[in-house]
Amino acid sequence: MSTWANLGLQDSASPLMEQLIFFHDHALLILVMITVLVGYLMFMLFFNSYINRFLLHGQLIEMIWTILPAIILLFIALPSLRLLYLLDEINEPSVTLKSIGHQWYWSYEYSDFNNIEFDSYMIPTNELATDGFRLLDVDNRVVLPMNSQIRILVTAADVIHSWTIPALGVKVDGTPGRLNQTNFFINRPGLFFGQCSEICGANHSFMPIVIESVPVNYFIKWIS
Ligand code: CUA
Repeated sequence: MSTWANLGLQDSASPLMEQLIFFHDHALLILVMITVLVGYLMFMLFFNSYINRFLLHGQLIEMIWTILPAIILLFIALPSLRLLYLLDEINEPSVTLKSIGHQWYWSYEYSDFNNIEFDSYMIPTNELATDGFRLLDVDNRVVLPMNSQIRILVTAADVIHSWTIPALGVKVDGTPGRLNQTNFFINRPGLFFGQCSEICGANHSFMPIVIESVPVNYFIKWIS
């Protein structure tokens, strides 16, 4: 989860989020290099005395500063496309979880295990335990096995919601009348917090998501 003064991305808990962070750092590095170069050139213009009165064109420099940015953009576009298709790949999931967005709570269905269904509401601050996570904890957490491919199906019952968990690299809109699919792989045990990220009404901020990642045998025990 995010803690004080954590302004960057959260630590990843899935291979896809790890790749997303690598891509973010890669793109940021290119951005910094461009900003420094352009900033330096603009700054140096102040000290240019423009003594070459006959300078009207420069074919070579025009070629360079047209083609070079195009090549740099390729270095961003190709890894970006690779990630995009990687995120969309479904690799034989062992568990399917269905989550339905409501105003303002999530409900879950484990359709392949005797149709377990439950609602998951945020715990209000006045009912919170002393070690609880304010505005993030829920009454019924989503228990999922670690080290297994998990597929989630997301939809909504009223307005558009978004099932978002930063540490797992998941962000899927729940849209009424549609069923969206994505998948992830949790590579450690623990609690992973998320929040709705489509502005869905008055209590949009108060429909968090909590995933309890446990070893597979614990999960089988919980589900049965
Ligand atoms: Cu549901 Cu915002």
